[in-house]
Amino acid sequence: MTINYHCSALKSLILSIVLAFSSLSTFAQEIPTDDASIAAGKQLFDTNCKTCHRINERLIGPPLGHVYERAPSIEWIHDFVRNSSAVIASGDPYAVNLFNEYNKVLMTSFSSLKNEDIDNILAYIKSEDEKPAAEPGAQPGAQTAAGGEGAGGAPEYLNLILIGMVIILVLLVVILLFLISAIKRFLDTRDLTEEQKEIVHSPINLGTITRSRGFIFVVAFIVVALGFKGVINALYSIGIQQDYAPQQPIAFSHKVHAGEYEIDCKYCHTGVAKGKNATIPSVNICMNCHNQIKSGTLTGEAEIAKIVRAYNENKPIEWVRVHNLPDLAYFNHAQHVTVGGIECETCHGPIQEMEVVRQHSLLTMGWCIDCHRTTQVNARGNAYYDKLLEVHEGSGKAGMTVEDIGGLECSKCHY
Ligand code: HEC
Ligand code: HEC
Ligand code: HEC
Ligand code: HEC
Ligand code: HEC
Ligand code: HEC
Repeated sequence: MTINYHCSALKSLILSIVLAFSSLSTFAQEIPTDDASIAAGKQLFDTNCKTCHRINERLIGPPLGHVYERAPSIEWIHDFVRNSSAVIASGDPYAVNLFNEYNKVLMTSFSSLKNEDIDNILAYIKSEDEKPAAEPGAQPGAQTAAGGEGAGGAPEYLNLILIGMVIILVLLVVILLFLISAIKRFLDTRDLTEEQKEIVHSPINLGTITRSRGFIFVVAFIVVALGFKGVINALYSIGIQQDYAPQQPIAFSHKVHAGEYEIDCKYCHTGVAKGKNATIPSVNICMNCHNQIKSGTLTGEAEIAKIVRAYNENKPIEWVRVHNLPDLAYFNHAQHVTVGGIECETCHGPIQEMEVVRQHSLLTMGWCIDCHRTTQVNARGNAYYDKLLEVHEGSGKAGMTVEDIGGLECSKCHY
């Protein structure tokens, strides 16, 4: 009897150990480690999760690093990602705690993601966890530093040239004064008439200088040249709105959203990769987050309340347009962003740092043309350009600018 009892206890012990191991091994098995899964996971993460999650930092949601070890189970993660509100509503203590900790911000439901998709995302997260810690932070920093240099470099360069010229001028003046006194001393050793002596020793003062004809000519020339330049500048700047930064109906800050919270531009400007217009987000997009986030650190609750009011009254927010080309010109975002691979910052400047959007570039025809003359077409790996590229490389010229594919033809930009 006792032996039997021990035996069954032993059996159940063994069974539970085996079970524990098998569940452990399925736990481990469920996160793939191959490169294809990791790449697919990164893609999914960037498009769906990155607006709210980072691997190592708290954003709108928790950092997802090591989440597969922290969460109750992989199953749980599957359910939570597909429908977090259902998991929270079921009273699951882990979910409820998390929900409260994150100010009751509801995570978007991703009901279309399959188990494999979520596992791929976890594979990506795991691969990031296993990378050395310093790497991810260093890269974006280096990039922005390189970006800033291009903009700041030119004026510094100019300043150096100016300082150099001033030094040379001062040296010239010193040399001239030295020569004058040397000539005077030389003339004094000669026999001169009284009249000649008077000329040699006539004092050089402000009066004599300003009355001289050379001086009057130089001054007149400078005045006319400056006036002329002013008129030309004024003519050229008609219709140019660089640095235009109108007050907006809601104090929306790119610095907070795109900067601090690193929300992807495309999350709000949904058209930018696919069409002509970047599009301004509708109230619904704001409400994805602001039906939960009710107060901001800068402006308190009043500004966000305006979003909720517009949403409830079903009225669009009347944003003031900043960038505006005349109707005669055609500009397409997808062509530049998706095909050309140009960053928003190249044309719009450091939007992530702007509390209020400001027009960064000139947006004149000359601005478009200058870039088309100098920018290489992003042709590698684009089958459409393969043939063209072959022809160009045959001609011995390195690369292919936008000009070479017809980017200076009037009809490309004018209807
Ligand atoms: C709109 C913002 C938002 C998006 C988009 C989002 N999440 Fe979340 N997520 C949250 C918040 C907030 C929490 C914290 C729980 C809560 O408040 O509901 C969370 C929690 C989680 C958790 C639990 C974390 C933990 O510490 O246990 C997982 C896992 C998770 N999210 C995965 C994802 C994945 C995968 C995606 C993309 C497919 C995603 N999330 C997209 C906001 C978001
Ligand atoms: C959370 C949503 C959101 C994100 C993220 C966002 N924007 Fe915006 N953006 C807006 C709104 C709303 C406006 C209109 C109000 C304004 O001008 O401030 C706007 C306006 C702009 C404008 C001026 C449009 C005009 O009227 O000419 C530019 C340019 C712009 N955004 C670029 C960017 C870039 C570049 C990024 C990414 C670095 C970005 N935005 C990220 C919401 C967003
Ligand atoms: C090659 C230069 C260039 C690049 C790159 C670029 N833009 Fe623009 N953007 C413009 C010009 C020019 C306009 C004015 C268009 C008009 O008035 O028709 C504009 C207008 C806008 C507007 C106002 C609304 C609209 O669609 O006209 C937004 C928002 C915007 N850009 C966002 C972005 C974002 C986000 C990116 C990056 C993903 C980006 N832009 C990349 C040149 C650029
Ligand atoms: C992906 C989530 C998300 C979206 C979408 C979003 N916001 Fe926000 N918004 C935030 C977060 C996070 C804060 C910062 C709250 C804080 O500072 O504590 C914020 C803050 C603000 C603030 C207050 C700024 C401050 O700090 O005082 C305003 C105003 C605002 N958002 C307007 C908008 C508008 C308008 C839209 C739609 C065009 C929008 N937001 C879309 C997440 C979002
Ligand atoms: C920062 C550089 C840059 C600026 C500024 C720029 N472009 Fe472009 N543009 C490009 C590049 C690169 C391409 C080539 C994209 C591709 O591979 O097709 C291009 C292509 C084009 C094309 C298609 C040309 C063709 O032959 O298919 C048009 C049209 C165009 N741009 C119009 C404009 C207009 C209008 C402006 C000014 C408002 C402008 N671009 C400003 C870089 C620029
Ligand atoms: C890369 C694009 C591009 C090409 C190529 C181009 N233009 Fe333009 N053009 C523009 C833009 C953008 C404007 C508007 C500039 C502004 O508002 O200051 C403009 C303005 C003009 C204007 C001035 C209209 C006014 O109101 O001041 C004339 C005229 C003009 N273009 C003629 C031409 C001719 C002729 C050609 C061919 C030799 C040509 N453009 C090629 C982009 C282009």
